[in-house]
Amino acid sequence: MTTKRAKTGASPIVWVLNGPNLNLLGKREPEIYGRTTLPEIEKACQTRAKALDLAVDFRQTNYEGELVTWIQDSKGQASGMILNAGAYTHTSVALLDALNYAQLPTIEVHLSQPLNREPFRHHSFVTPAAQGLISGLGAHGYELALEALARLIHKS
Ligand code: DQA
Repeated sequence: MTTKRAKTGASPIVWVLNGPNLNLLGKREPEIYGRTTLPEIEKACQTRAKALDLAVDFRQTNYEGELVTWIQDSKGQASGMILNAGAYTHTSVALLDALNYAQLPTIEVHLSQPLNREPFRHHSFVTPAAQGLISGLGAHGYELALEALARLIHKS
């Protein structure tokens, strides 16, 4: 695997991609998703990434096609990916196809624990293409995913 750096000597880049409705974190079903907002999660990721010698490109979209395009584009530009695809996790073969194309070390993240929720959330199209899965730990899951990726990227 080639480690992608922002410029020579810079830290390897991890793309943190967030899917639909995650822009509403903090006010969306806080009893399930917590009160931390997405900008707060991004800030925590940026801080944690620095300590791990990583750089973070943090994005959110409500559009499936945009998520697919970002995953395609990550090939050759990112060294690793954290993906919370939101509800597309449970519906999108297109995401799985894009992930299989990109072939990046990828950690799937969910704030909630989908396996403890409705049956339609029990299947993930992302999991077969992910190295690891962190769910049910709220916003902290993103930082744990960065730690996992740091190991995968720095040992390569
Ligand atoms: C989620 C879980 C999904 O089932 C849900 O559709 C989301 C958020 C999570 O982070 O817990 O939008 O991905």
